[in-house]
Amino acid sequence: MTKSKTVYVCQNCGAESPKWIGRCPSCREWNTYHEEIIAPANQKASSFISGQVRRKPELLDNIKADEKNRTATGISELDRILGGGMVGGSLILIGGEPGVGKSTLALQLALSLKNTTILYVSGEESEEQISLRAKRLKNSNPLCYVLCETELETILAHSEQLKPGLIIIDSIQTISTTMLESSAGTVSQVRESAAQLLKYSKVTGIPVFLIGHITKDGTLAGPKVLEHIVDVVLYFEGDNNYVYRILRSAKNRFGSTSEIGIFEMAEAGLREVNNPSEMFINQHDEALSGISIAATVDGLRPFLIETQALVSSAVYGTPQRSATGFDIRRLNMLLAVLEKRAGFRLGVKDVFLNIAGGIKVSDPAIDLAIVSSVLSSNLDIPVSREVCLAGETGLSGEIRPVSRIEQRIREASKMGFKKIYISKFHKGISLKGVEIEVVHVGKIEHLVRGLFG
Ligand code: TYD
Ligand code: MG
Repeated sequence: MTKSKTVYVCQNCGAESPKWIGRCPSCREWNTYHEEIIAPANQKASSFISGQVRRKPELLDNIKADEKNRTATGISELDRILGGGMVGGSLILIGGEPGVGKSTLALQLALSLKNTTILYVSGEESEEQISLRAKRLKNSNPLCYVLCETELETILAHSEQLKPGLIIIDSIQTISTTMLESSAGTVSQVRESAAQLLKYSKVTGIPVFLIGHITKDGTLAGPKVLEHIVDVVLYFEGDNNYVYRILRSAKNRFGSTSEIGIFEMAEAGLREVNNPSEMFINQHDEALSGISIAATVDGLRPFLIETQALVSSAVYGTPQRSATGFDIRRLNMLLAVLEKRAGFRLGVKDVFLNIAGGIKVSDPAIDLAIVSSVLSSNLDIPVSREVCLAGETGLSGEIRPVSRIEQRIREASKMGFKKIYISKFHKGISLKGVEIEVVHVGKIEHLVRGLFG
């Protein structure tokens, strides 16, 4: 029996130290070091994978790789961010906060991928729970196997027998390998299990989906330590109080990271949102003040989104400012610009701002719509329902150009808008076959005159 060794591992970033330290020198977090036992490598376990297939150096020119190796998942929003489907032998991590819908997405994937044997491993839910969820999703796949197991070696042994076309692991934090003595969920277990799965998927060519939890404060041994091991990192975001979920790619070895997938959490699982503009614009019978529509772009995807503002006289000495889905500091900046450059006395007003659908927007092009909503509410004059806006506001009140303006204009036109306000500094926009009036504005004053006369 060889002696086991203990080390202290930072649960935030995975840095190791032979002794306990209060503050991690690597990620500068306090109190994140936990003692972990590192057992000497279990020879039998480690040879399980690498012992069977020994790889030889291969001439690059002789290696055959083609795009046919991609398999469509049956969920088009997922295919879109994966770059057209799953690549054989890839390790894909889906991270997200608890309750956002990771397990639902994973099971939906298992059920929609037909004619493929699927091994769905759950360390969190029982077979009955998974079966109930599948019933709720109203879909079935006769080749989907469920395994409630947490030991990696057992999972791989089952996979060797079953020879599945896809493995899903929910979640990586519950899986542990016998090679280490530390408990499941610790950084070393998460890292080692993921490394073993990577090796397994590369050798066998089976794509593996890993689910990983992240907590708001990031204290759990999280997907952060896995990001460099896996091939693709997807983050599932969304506010649990709203139905919209956005799947974002943070890393993709086989495609671009600028695509996003949009879903809606419905009674029977996640529904793909193919036309997000329709979802994020509320239908009103009459034009209301304080509402304007922004033509934004997230990743590569243009969509229109409604911004709402309420400006009222401050009841208390200090005016209140609140923003949902938008950076409050940027709102304060925009209000200061309106006060200083356009002469609106907003310093004595309460301002509340809301982006429709619980979506967080960081695209600077939304500035113009926010300014319009605030002014519309302040003046109590509605902005026409046929108008949308795209532009960034600078500190001196100038309207700056934004990226992908042609895409934004096309989307606005497609959604039936008659007029779009953009920066006057956009040059050479080619808009063949697009029927929309493009109004170029250089300063906030021009915008105010154009919108409110
Ligand atoms: P879940 O996939 O369990 O989240 P995670 O694995 O990320 O922790 O699902 C989260 C929520 O989704 C849950 O609170 C209930 C809701 N939900 C629906 O609204 N409709 C459905 O069809 C399903 C399966 C779940
Ligand atoms: Mg889950």
